[in-house]
Amino acid sequence: MSDNRIGAESREALRARHSAKWRQYPDDVLPLFVAEMDYPIAEPVKRILTDLVNANDLGYLGAIPEIAPAFAEFAEKRWGWTPDTSHLKLACDVGVATVEFLRANHAKSVVVTSPVYSGFWSWLTELNVDIVDVPLTDAFDMDFAGIEKAFASGVRFFLLCNPHNPLGRVFGREELLALAQLADKYGATVIADEIHAPLTFPGTEFVPYLSLGPAAERTGVLVTSTSKSWNLAGLKAAFLLVHEDKAAMFDQLPASMHYRSSILGAFSMATAYSEGVPWLDTTIDTIVAARDHFANELERLLPGAHLEWMPDAGYLAWIDVSGLGLGETPNERILTDAKVALVAGTNCGPAYVNHVRINFATSHEIITEALERIAKIVESVKSH
Ligand SMILES: Cc1ncc(COP(=O)(O)O)c(C=O)c1O
Repeated sequence: MSDNRIGAESREALRARHSAKWRQYPDDVLPLFVAEMDYPIAEPVKRILTDLVNANDLGYLGAIPEIAPAFAEFAEKRWGWTPDTSHLKLACDVGVATVEFLRANHAKSVVVTSPVYSGFWSWLTELNVDIVDVPLTDAFDMDFAGIEKAFASGVRFFLLCNPHNPLGRVFGREELLALAQLADKYGATVIADEIHAPLTFPGTEFVPYLSLGPAAERTGVLVTSTSKSWNLAGLKAAFLLVHEDKAAMFDQLPASMHYRSSILGAFSMATAYSEGVPWLDTTIDTIVAARDHFANELERLLPGAHLEWMPDAGYLAWIDVSGLGLGETPNERILTDAKVALVAGTNCGPAYVNHVRINFATSHEIITEALERIAKIVESVKSH
């Protein structure tokens, strides 16, 4: 890999940020929980935002024909997939896109594969549907026997997280194809949340679900956004995309969804896909270096912790902390005593009391300091 990196912003600049990551906790806490990056955003995105503001152009979002070709070209160059964008609808974020799709199609029960992104649990709880958890196997593969059992029992929706949060795992072509065939057999719908896909690292192939042929086209709904990969979560824009075969379900979505996304977000999304690739590649190099630093420092400072998967995409890591002796709620202990904010494993599924999720999209210095702080409390536990 080229040494092509951007630095994290200074601590002072980060502390002055207004976003959730930097406002949730007091200043003495290092926030490595929510999925925001500590790097500056892409220049072309800054430019479109300032252009819109300077032109006093902040009305409702109207037609935005720029998104479909920008995404199609991005997908073609990045993944060799030329999507048919005839059925593409905007939403304000991936959460709302998913919830609205399930609501409009009267979902009663939905399969998730824990450990999985906390939002999945809260979205489905909001919808009041049955959450049918078919955990990933010990090797973090999909449990197809369990998924088939769920489909056979009448569950008709599957929430796919690929690349996977919290593992940073990118599922392979064969596995995705097997899922598509199983869903097709039972007439189930796979909502493919591919929000982290642009951040797939060199050497790993990301395969868009909808690129997998007829079974995937009959079953798939892509939900995605530039909010994670270009660090624009506050701008509120995302989209859903389906093949013609899924148009009937897609058409159930309320037209008002479009107007609920923001003009700033939607134009930033189009710009990120069309002009934000150099920034993206540099940011991936930065993240890979941060991942390597994190993995090395974890081994050096916290040998009792176990990185469950070396991430192939994104900037989140899933760690088994059962060997650290931090009690029944390790995340709380780490927050209270080490002043490091992580995501509790139980947010990703009730069974994961011994896990935490960490966001490593920050400086090497902050990564090391966070792990040193945790190592210190582990030491004090041991010496008592
Ligand atoms: C897999 C996944 N989906 C969706 C989201 C949230 O996206 P949005 O803010 O567009 O709802 C996240 C945020 O971290 C995520 O990791």
